[in-house]
Amino acid sequence: MAQIHRIGVLTGGGDAPGLNAVIRAVVKTASNAGIQVIGLEDSFDGLIYPEKSRPLVPRDVTGILRLGGTILGTVNRGNPFAQPIVTPEGTFNYAERVVEMFGRMKLDALVCIGGDGTLAISYEFHKAGVPLVCVPKTIDNDIVGTTNCFGFDTAVAFATDAIDRLHTTAEAHRRIMIVEVMGRDAGWIALYAGVAGGADAILIPEIPFDISLAAQRLRERDKWGAKFSIVVVAEGAFPKGGSQALVEAARKGHVERLGGMGALVSEALARETGKETRSVVLGHLQRGGAPTSFDRVLATRFGAKAVELVKRGEFDTMVAFAPPDIVARKLEDVVGKTKTVPLDSDVIQTARAMGVTFGD
Ligand code: F6P
Repeated sequence: MAQIHRIGVLTGGGDAPGLNAVIRAVVKTASNAGIQVIGLEDSFDGLIYPEKSRPLVPRDVTGILRLGGTILGTVNRGNPFAQPIVTPEGTFNYAERVVEMFGRMKLDALVCIGGDGTLAISYEFHKAGVPLVCVPKTIDNDIVGTTNCFGFDTAVAFATDAIDRLHTTAEAHRRIMIVEVMGRDAGWIALYAGVAGGADAILIPEIPFDISLAAQRLRERDKWGAKFSIVVVAEGAFPKGGSQALVEAARKGHVERLGGMGALVSEALARETGKETRSVVLGHLQRGGAPTSFDRVLATRFGAKAVELVKRGEFDTMVAFAPPDIVARKLEDVVGKTKTVPLDSDVIQTARAMGVTFGD
């Protein structure tokens, strides 16, 4: 097994609370093992532009455990292979430049922290011969092979707090309050925040909804005296026979931006129930703030495990949470797949048993 002297670490895609906790764990555990760490800024840009990288030592990561965001910066550019790279040194093919710079920077391996997009890009670089280990990150919790991604618990905690606050104003005005949460094509945040916040309806992409059925359940609440309701709508939810609401359509190299279903559901429920409705979009607030203790521990374990895998030469892998253990998954088993909420999920069954409607 080749001796590891120097590794690069980068964060890619949308940020999630806990990125700094992983960076800290990578730097501290690598440093304690005599391995130098180079921080690569703005995802793989750190391997393209020489000025976008810097050595990281324990002093640089002291105190960042609790900080949201990422000290390395991140970019979410969709498909970076689509465009040539223009640098002061000339114009390059993206993949060739990254592989060349990896060698020029005398790196022995990379730790790539990111979501589905970063995992897919990393997989391409693995195939091009770059030894790397990935760490799964996303508030959406939609990466296969791991029970949790760090960031998810923090996003759910924030959304739950928001729902708690909406409860009191909903009850005071006897309104239906609609909360739109993130999650792309997976309903994990909506489901968990909905159950934790005591929502009466939860609309998720995995279960196309019929608004009349949802409205009927909310009207029943009025009959037994609950004059208000809370509805959690995943940004990727859509009506039966309909489609997702978009803020921006997909364009070359970029996926579409979801958003707006909460407002549509709000209008439809007002029509169907005759009650006053209001909708709130939690948006990027779900990605900010300090990670929860759960996410800090998970992120720290992920970072330490990534360095362990690098030391053992177990490349082309992603660290994963398989409770109670942190394990390694092969990238090829993970890339290009999405972990959606299983319809037979115990959490869905529990919510249904509690009288929550999914609009079906
Ligand atoms: O994947 C994380 C996520 O926050 C999704 O839940 C959301 O749809 C998307 O990123 C938003 O992306 P952006 O930050 O590019 O608007």
